Amino acid sequence: MNIHTIPVITIDGPSASGKGTIAQLVARKLGFHYLDSGALYRLVALRTLQSCIDIDNIAQLTDIARKLNTVFKDNQIYLDGKIVTDDIRSEQCGNLASKLAAHSQVRAALIERQRAFRQLPGLVTDGRDMGSVIFPDANLKIFLTASAEIRAQRRHNQLIEKGISANIADLLQDIIERDERDSNRSIAPLQQCTDARLLDTSSLTISQAQDSVLTWYNEICAKTSA
Ligand code: CDP
Repeated sequence: MNIHTIPVITIDGPSASGKGTIAQLVARKLGFHYLDSGALYRLVALRTLQSCIDIDNIAQLTDIARKLNTVFKDNQIYLDGKIVTDDIRSEQCGNLASKLAAHSQVRAALIERQRAFRQLPGLVTDGRDMGSVIFPDANLKIFLTASAEIRAQRRHNQLIEKGISANIADLLQDIIERDERDSNRSIAPLQQCTDARLLDTSSLTISQAQDSVLTWYNEICAKTSA
């Protein structure tokens, strides 16, 4: 079986743009697998924090990335057999993930692990470089964004729902800093690739955003089968 014939939809975009929510809904609707690539960077960050490793020690960070013992199952994320689904969502993990994701060796150590998620009947994935680096031959590439203020509000709601206290002004500041770092790093920077479609969700409901992705995907399927 040629792996490249397995359909992939990539949804890249900045922090808190809603790409995870939309990607999961689209995956469910199509019966496809789902890869949250940011979770892998967050897992490396969590392990780094737990091990008290110096975040400038790239060799050790890369070793952690290479040896991550993680399982994604039934909407839960396990690290060494322990559920860490909520632990990796802290702003501390998100910020550290963004810092260590700027190292090319750490990114390289995670490439094959991400590609292994490409399995029948298909994959929907979200991140920063899914369409540009990990799945350059994806059937549909989307760059999903929203204004920084709306994203801060959404992240606030998400954290409060999880019982994690948060302050909108701090979250907005974090988002602006993270955008800056993710967009300006030299390796796999956050940017819309030329063959990705832009989806600005600032004034869209989740269901409208999901419908846009599904409509585009169905159009592509209709064209390829014609
Ligand atoms: O939830 P949020 O969008 O804030 O972040 P995430 O998707 O969970 O990713 C956490 C961090 O990992 C991001 O700030 C990125 O720096 C990094 N990341 C990346 O570099 N490449 C990816 N494919 C996914 C995440």
